[in-house]
Amino acid sequence: MAKRTLLIQSILLCSMLMMIPIPAKAQQNCSSFAFSNGVGPFATCITLPVLNSFLHWTYHSSNHTVDIAYRHTGVSASNWVAWALNPDGSGMLRAQCLVAFQNSSGLVHAYTAPIGTGTYFIQLTEGSLSFPVPRLSAEFDNNNKEMIIFATLRLPAGRTSFNQVWQVGPLSGDSPQAHDTTGNSPNTRSTGTVDFATGQVSAGGGVSNSRMRKRNVHGVLNAVSWGILMPVGAVIARYLKVFKSATPAWFYLHVTCQTSAYIVGVAGWGTGLKLGSDSKGITYDTHRNIGIALFCLGTLQVFALLLRPKPDHKYRLYWNIYHWATGYVVIALSIVNIFKGFDILDPQKKWKNAYTGVIIAIGGVAVALEAITWLIVLKRKKDGGSLSDNNKYPPHSSNRVNGVNGYGA
Ligand SMILES: *[C@@H]1O[C@H](CO)[C@@H](O)[C@H](O)[C@H]1NC(C)=O
Ligand SMILES: *[C@@H]1O[C@H](CO)[C@@H](O)[C@H](O)[C@H]1NC(C)=O
Ligand SMILES: *[C@@H]1O[C@H](CO)[C@@H](O)[C@H](O)[C@H]1NC(C)=O
Repeated sequence: MAKRTLLIQSILLCSMLMMIPIPAKAQQNCSSFAFSNGVGPFATCITLPVLNSFLHWTYHSSNHTVDIAYRHTGVSASNWVAWALNPDGSGMLRAQCLVAFQNSSGLVHAYTAPIGTGTYFIQLTEGSLSFPVPRLSAEFDNNNKEMIIFATLRLPAGRTSFNQVWQVGPLSGDSPQAHDTTGNSPNTRSTGTVDFATGQVSAGGGVSNSRMRKRNVHGVLNAVSWGILMPVGAVIARYLKVFKSATPAWFYLHVTCQTSAYIVGVAGWGTGLKLGSDSKGITYDTHRNIGIALFCLGTLQVFALLLRPKPDHKYRLYWNIYHWATGYVVIALSIVNIFKGFDILDPQKKWKNAYTGVIIAIGGVAVALEAITWLIVLKRKKDGGSLSDNNKYPPHSSNRVNGVNGYGA
């Protein structure tokens, strides 16, 4: 319990730290870059925090324009690159993009593309921006694997500070394809602010960090509840009841485990629905559908508890069979869905490994307990002892059949 609290606390702390804008200092390095064709030098230059990118600019206060050169290194002829100001939003939605790639004629195609608010996976369709772009060109240096976009922007009136976002992605023929959106990849962190007058920039902030935090919370809540507590609760029910001394403790442990798992799990499920509705255009159908099925089955289990027939009722056996079957289905689906979630969130490998380790450990304990249970049952049979001793606890005792080998509900 303490460890789990600590884990959640550290994750929340880290997420809070991620929200603090990190001031990036203008680096001397990038201003020593020599543009060919007599372009520049530019008055200011910054090394952007991710994606091997640099922004060079000269701001003219007289006409409120800025001449920029956006340099993106480490790209190939099969990449598109883009840099955008986002005067009315943050992150990708509403971004006003300058896009460049080498097209199938072997020419570098530079154009403007505004992004709307509707969908995340947009094709970067050509269109005019919310502010004028009197000059735009780009060049690709295949030797240095470097794309440079040159542009002059007539900035929206009354301000010099804007959100900016930059990106790189693959091409298919002459059409830009979706960029990497996994977990904590640099492509999800390529946002920040820039003030063309003061040269101040900050990294991060905006949509992707709060989204990252939500994704982490979603992952932790669900992995702990559906993924760990529920299987542990099932192991408790199945194996502890065979030990006479553990009755009725196992029953209360089982109910506590599953109920808290259900409550935390529903919270985690809610965060998932919210994430799903926020990520318009990106749908993780299988993960979502399994999640909804799990919520229904989990809720069914909780309410079935209220409808449980008395131990000696003739339908109790059927109720038990239903309860185990649903329980095992829930556990199997939960584990499958958590691994699907790992593929979507794509966190650091160690989290997936840690979870895999926990599941293997629970599985190992279950196998060992299964063996011990059978030994005990066989011994009791041999001794001719009362098989139902361990089933005396009224709320949960049932017919002998399921008490014997630990299959009690
Ligand atoms: C860039 O800066 C780093 C340290 O800030 C320095 O070691 C390196 O030599 C510089 N490179 C150029 C090309 O100026
Ligand atoms: C803006 O003014 C500067 C001089 O202050 C000039 O060099 C530049 O060409 C002007 N830009 C535009 C787009 O008119
Ligand atoms: C490639 O880009 C150049 C420059 O923008 C353009 O003139 C040409 O039509 C483009 N070719 C194709 C096949 O789109």
